[in-house]
Order: sequence, then C-alpha cells, then structure tokens
Amino acid sequence: MKRAEFQNLLMQWYKKEARVLPWRSDPTPYKVWISEIMLQQTRVDTVIPYFLRFIEEVPSVAALAQIEEEKLLKLWQGLGYYNRALNLKKAGLKVIEEFNGEIPSEMEDLMSLPGIGVYTAGAIASIAFGKAVPAVDGNVLRIIARVTASREDISSPATKKVFEPLALQLIPKDNPGDFNQALMDLGATICLSNGEPKCNECPVNSCCEAYRKDLTFELPVQSAKKPRKILKKTVFVISYKDSYALKKRPAKGLLANLWEFPNVEGHLNAEQGKQALNSLGLAAFEISKLPASKHIFTHLEWHMKSYLVKATELQASSDLTWATKEEINHRYSIPTAFKKVVADVEGIVL
Ligand code: ADE
Repeated sequence: MKRAEFQNLLMQWYKKEARVLPWRSDPTPYKVWISEIMLQQTRVDTVIPYFLRFIEEVPSVAALAQIEEEKLLKLWQGLGYYNRALNLKKAGLKVIEEFNGEIPSEMEDLMSLPGIGVYTAGAIASIAFGKAVPAVDGNVLRIIARVTASREDISSPATKKVFEPLALQLIPKDNPGDFNQALMDLGATICLSNGEPKCNECPVNSCCEAYRKDLTFELPVQSAKKPRKILKKTVFVISYKDSYALKKRPAKGLLANLWEFPNVEGHLNAEQGKQALNSLGLAAFEISKLPASKHIFTHLEWHMKSYLVKATELQASSDLTWATKEEINHRYSIPTAFKKVVADVEGIVL
C-alpha cells in the first residue's frame, strides 16, 4: 500500500470535507468518550441531538457518577443498547475512584472501564489524547479490504486480527485523531457498504487496489448474517382514569430495567386478550384494536398486535404501575419498540 500518499490525500480531503459534528469542535476527553459510546451501533444523525442534550444535562464525569439510573435511562430513551448508559455510569464511578476523576489516556486504562473495548479505546486515545493508535470498526475493515483488495471475510474476528496491524502502520504520528475520523467519514460518505461506493469522488482511489482491479462491488467479502428470531407479542395500552399502566422489565436481558406497556407472548384475539387482562388484575374494561406493528432489534424481531384498553374497575392485587401521560413523557424510559404502538394515543410521545 502507498502509505504516505494515502495519508496525505486522506488528510487533505478531511481538511476540506470533514463533517461538522458537535463533539469535534471542542474534543475534551469527556465529550469524546460520551460521543464514542453513543456512536457504537448508532448513526451520527441519530446521535447528535442525544449528545447535545446529554452534555447539557450531565456536563462532567462527576455529574455522570452521581446521576440517578432512571434519569440516565430517560436521557438514553430511543438510542437503544441501554447497557451502554448503565456502563457509562459505572465507568464514571471508576474514573472518580481509581483515576482521580481524570479520564485516562492509555489504551489499557481506557479498556479497564466498563463499555470501552479496543475500538472505543482507540478512538478516545487518538481523538482526545493524540495517541497514534487505530480505531478499527466495520467501516475501517471495509476500507482496508478494498484498498488492499483482500478477500478475507470482514465479519470474521480473525480478519480483524489480520487488519489491525495494517491499520496501525497506516496511522500517522501527526494528528492521528483526525486521521481516524477521516477514515470514519470516508466510510460513512464515500466508501459505502450498501449500494454503490462513490469511487469517482474518493480522495484515495489512486491508492485503492479494488478500484484499480474493478472489484469494488465484490469487496469486501462478508458472510451472510444469521436470520433474526421472530417473537410474537400482544401489547395492552391500558388507561384508568388519567393514568396508563406500565411494568418494569426484568433486571437482566433485553431492555433490562426499562418500562413497558404490559404485554404477553403470542398474538391474542380479543377474547384471549380479555382473559390476559383479568390475570393482570383488571376486572372491567372496554377493549379496542390498535394498529399492528413491528420492531427490529439486532438479533430479534418483535411482531406486535396491540389493544387499547379502558379500565373501569381494578382489582386490588395488581403489580402494574400507573403513570400519567406527563410522567410517561418525562420520567419513565420506554423503549422505541413501543413508539408505533402508541402513535395514535394522543399526548404520549416516545
Ligand atoms: N463514528 C464513531 N466515532 C465517530 C466520530 N468521532 N466521528 C464520526 N463518526 C464516528
């Protein structure tokens, strides 16, 4: 690979074309850390408003270490992968207790913090501290596979091990953080994964073997993902007086500790639904259909049938929590999976 030419061309392009992003203008270790955690598995456009609000409400490691879990999960509502938020708080406490309140700059120390793996440690160390270390994610794997015309399967962990030393050689000593971010921008805007890569606009096409050999459509090799499991559910949006029923999800597993509208497995018809509602502690109610909806997680799909239920009488022994619309909107963290379920319920905003 033409290393110096690749570096120069990419950096010249980045100086002109870098995306203007709120964590780039003042890259303090705290802001870089928060942004990198949010950007794991989540698109830049989605992250921007969450990042701005988070920095406003939780402006420092000290504030993060002290934040109440419910408030933290509410700030994270809609971003997904909620463990990231819980790990942020755990890491904040560890930074206070073990690193004197200063976010560490060494890879090994960064990787000792919950939620920080080798990619995120590389991103923080290079962007916030100017360390010449790579940050190899799926975008960078794709770029390396194309630039070197490699047929290694980029979804295999073994390929990552082969590409990491290549990425390390590629990092300039001068401004490694910008170099890594230039690779991220190249992957996001030019060297695209789905559809056509924009090779004609690519600043480093003169260094790209796949481009030279006309292989950009074939590369990278990426083995097919396993199909997602499908889970059928029936969801009940239950109102009683001016409140709605919520349940807290279990402390372990998918969407742990978040709040949800009561639901059961399977697609129930109205008659079966009535029985399920009796078991939830509702004695008398009116039931009507809400639109069916679907939510896609990484390895799972929820196919939901939903009912709007107006309860007129409750049994004493119900483990439901009752929340007003105002409380649902501002206090309880409810996952996006339920957004379409309540789309027609006026006044609830997820
Ligand atoms: N994805 C992960 N980190 C990023 C960053 N710093 N800028 C843009 N996209 C990113």
